Amino acid sequence: MTGKRLDPWGKGGIENYENLFKEFGIESFDKYRQRFSNNRYIRRGIVIGQRDYGRIAEAIEKKKPYAMMTGLMPSGKFHFGHKMVADQIIWYQKMNADTFVCAADLEATVVRDIPLQEARKIAIEEYLTNYVALGLTEKNLTFWFQTDYVVPYYRFRDQLSKKVTLNELKGIYGDDLTTGKIFSAITQAADILHPQLAEFGGPRPTVVPVGADQDPHIRLTRDFSGRFVSRHAADAASSEYKFIPPSSTYHKFMSGLSGGKMSSSDPSSYIALTEDPKTAEKKVMSAKTGGRATVTEQKELGGVPEDCMVYEMLVYHLVESDKELAEIYAGCKSGGRVCGECKKYCAGLLTAFLKEHQKKRKDAAKTVEKILGER
Ligand code: TRP
Ligand code: SF4
Repeated sequence: MTGKRLDPWGKGGIENYENLFKEFGIESFDKYRQRFSNNRYIRRGIVIGQRDYGRIAEAIEKKKPYAMMTGLMPSGKFHFGHKMVADQIIWYQKMNADTFVCAADLEATVVRDIPLQEARKIAIEEYLTNYVALGLTEKNLTFWFQTDYVVPYYRFRDQLSKKVTLNELKGIYGDDLTTGKIFSAITQAADILHPQLAEFGGPRPTVVPVGADQDPHIRLTRDFSGRFVSRHAADAASSEYKFIPPSSTYHKFMSGLSGGKMSSSDPSSYIALTEDPKTAEKKVMSAKTGGRATVTEQKELGGVPEDCMVYEMLVYHLVESDKELAEIYAGCKSGGRVCGECKKYCAGLLTAFLKEHQKKRKDAAKTVEKILGER
């Protein structure tokens, strides 16, 4: 144990996923890669870790009931890092999951100091509208705001407060815990577990796709799920709530355009899905690549795609064909491909995507209204 804590509210990136996973008992996703190869992020190892994914894999394959739940913190522009999460949500919806998506407006306001009204506006105009333009539909979907939902959810959330001690919370989140953090952690546990309440469909496997920084919340929630069993065998049946411990998946974060963390608080680190295509093109042309100092050197030594933000965009979002991607990789490694051309190629794919997406955003309004109206 290094004693290192994961901070779900922090600004730091994650350097070594393997070490982190070892420390917290997260398992590799490798054994599911082939089984779900119709998901680009799974196939390419971007979804890298999991807890208890077995029951989700089985539910998907045997078409049994299961739920997918995840949340978004509305804190700024919707960028390509967020698109990765959206694509996963949409994939599960297509794979017949009861789909639960929450706007963490409470968290944004108590932890990030974003005014509630602004958080809601961002959640709708940035997140929800882009989700719909990317393919989210109202089918099997429950979308809610943490501050504006239904009584059984709040009743359950408040019950959770007596299932954990302050010391346990400090053990998970560190000593600089604030009341706002406690509230948002417990609310997040309610987000994840409430689909299993009788009112929302009852106990069933639930998968929560998140970035690895969210694992403290997952651990807390999984602990909660086992704490509603009565201590007296005779009372077991009368326990108010019953849960299957939620499963989780962990994806690798995208890097920022200049190599650091992609962060909604730094516009030069990301490309937004509403970005003007010309600006987006410029951002690609000046992104950090894995190229060498000179073209001669590059031809001799080859580039380093593993360390290239342009290549990352292609892998995560812009090239669906594995064969094409392998050719780009090999071309880069061998020095046959040079960065100027490669960036132009990427910018071309990107601007085509953005134009198409921005058109779809305009058509999304109706569905967005339906989704909001159904609450
Ligand atoms: N805390 C998450 C974030 O910062 C948002 C969130 C709220 C969430 N509730 C959730 C994520 C439930 C997963 C499951 O992005
Ligand atoms: Fe990146 Fe392309 Fe340059 Fe290789 S050739 S380092 S993939 S920009």
